Amino acid sequence: MTDLPAPPPTHVAVIMDGNGRWAAQRGLPRTEGHRAGAKAVRAIVTRAREVGVRVLTLYAFSAQNWRRPTAEVAELMGLLIEFCRKERRLLQDKDIRFRIIGERARVPAAALKAAELLERATRDNGSMQLVIALSYGSREELVDATRSLARDVAAGRLDPGAIDEAAVASRLWTHDLPDPDLIIRTSGELRLSNFLLWQAAYAELYVDSRLWPDFDAAAFDEALASFGSRERRYGGIGPA
Ligand code: FPP
Repeated sequence: MTDLPAPPPTHVAVIMDGNGRWAAQRGLPRTEGHRAGAKAVRAIVTRAREVGVRVLTLYAFSAQNWRRPTAEVAELMGLLIEFCRKERRLLQDKDIRFRIIGERARVPAAALKAAELLERATRDNGSMQLVIALSYGSREELVDATRSLARDVAAGRLDPGAIDEAAVASRLWTHDLPDPDLIIRTSGELRLSNFLLWQAAYAELYVDSRLWPDFDAAAFDEALASFGSRERRYGGIGPA
């Protein structure tokens, strides 16, 4: 049994990496790796809710992932649609609110419809938020926020001198979410890959060598235990 931190991190964000390698190791097509990855999502959502995490953000598709072969993109969008339909019951039973963040305009209509339906159906659930980063890129998000601020300055509604951290954060797609406390990345890569760059300022980073389809509830507990053993100083000499 792994010792879990009390209280648990409020917001855990995960870079789900390694589906392709998982499939390659088994001589399977990449799409099978993504299928196995989608199954792992259910286990981690369930575990996060059990241990009292309030926000779980999963990096499902980056703004750069549109460059992947059409068939792979279609498979990933199909898996998202399937997830939205199949896991609706789980989310309602566990009082979990579903949301997406990212460039909605680029998401194919069927996938966007499935996601937005689930957002509406679960909007009053309050025990945990499951945030799926879909066509998400942190630089894209910061560009969008900058344009929004610039528009208000140009229109005379905002004084440039009044732009502070809170003003920038208020224009991000995550404006109503707390910053992540813990960012987990699977498959051993030591990169943030354009994920929550602004929001990650004081996040604890945890890298697991397992490939995403092999990342289970016990692995999630290990990440939480590691988080619990860290001392967070926020640039000072003690907690913020
Ligand atoms: C990275 O593995 C993973 C992705 C690009 C997609 C993540 C998607 C899922 C886990 C399934 C769908 C999600 C939901 C929420 C239903 P990779 O393909 O880059 O792996 P590799 O680095 O080993 O090639």
